[in-house]
Amino acid sequence: MSSRPVALVTGASSGIGAAFCRLLAREGFDLVITARRADRLQELKAQLQPATQVHLVPLDLGLAESPRQLFTTTQQLGLTVDLLVNSAGYALPGRYLQSSWEDQARLIQVLATTPAHLVHLYLPDMVRRHRGYVLNVASLGALVPASPRLTLYAALKHFVLVMNRSLREEYASSGIQFTALCPGPTATEWAAAAQLDSVFAQMPRWLVLSPDRVATLGYNAMMSGRHVVLTGAAARVTGALLPFLPDALALKWLANNEPPVPDG
Ligand SMILES: NC(=O)c1ccc[n+]([C@@H]2O[C@H](COP(=O)([O-])OP(=O)(O)OC[C@H]3O[C@@H](n4cnc5c(N)ncnc54)[C@H](OP(=O)(O)O)[C@@H]3O)[C@@H](O)[C@H]2O)c1
Repeated sequence: MSSRPVALVTGASSGIGAAFCRLLAREGFDLVITARRADRLQELKAQLQPATQVHLVPLDLGLAESPRQLFTTTQQLGLTVDLLVNSAGYALPGRYLQSSWEDQARLIQVLATTPAHLVHLYLPDMVRRHRGYVLNVASLGALVPASPRLTLYAALKHFVLVMNRSLREEYASSGIQFTALCPGPTATEWAAAAQLDSVFAQMPRWLVLSPDRVATLGYNAMMSGRHVVLTGAAARVTGALLPFLPDALALKWLANNEPPVPDG
């Protein structure tokens, strides 16, 4: 059994999650990696081994039973998780009624219930050891008052941000570091899934960060004890200005900048 610390990363098959895996491997962590696409996880494992021990747990985190299955698997493997990264996520494009309730419910599960459940499962052991790190990937979307045409996205990312803040307050003296990462536009598969790739393509290149850069900023912030980190100029400017902008004005701006999606 390896003596290296262990990090569990969700959304490891792509984008920011995969970037965290590469970074954490370099920082000396063994990994438990999860997402649905087992072939992608296998490729990542092949890149990181043998220096890093990588345990694959392919799962659909849109299913209510998946967090418990993941926890049981790590227990059966005899692993103690020192660091948890909740990165799995996506956005459902379109107005609310353009997706079925089943799809909206799956989104709520992946973006909110699963990260909350995983923290609930892995935190007790961290508290017992008086040591642990949790990084929750929220979004620039967590800061805006609404996300028309990605209906629930901002609300669910706000959930992640506020959950992170509450947990930090509750466990500040327990030796656990909670950090919420709020990325601005990042060059991953997220934009295509959200049907925002044309919007991203029109942005100046400097505005869209690489997932490796975002993971590095998030990791450094976590290790230096920060509880919120906004990555990229768009997120930092929004974060600085929004508290001073009345909701009505922000909503007007959002209404004028709605992403182009099919009618419905
Ligand atoms: N890219 C951006 O501009 C941006 C900005 C702000 C916040 N974020 C947030 O950053 C996080 C990472 O996204 P990304 O940009 O890295 O996008 P990405 O490249 O599309 O990666 C998303 C990851 O989530 C996993 N995932 C999605 N649905 C899942 C499910 N049902 N079960 C298990 N895993 C699932 C995907 O794996 P499988 O498909 O293999 O399951 C993939 O590994 C998300 O929470 C996203 O909301 C992204």
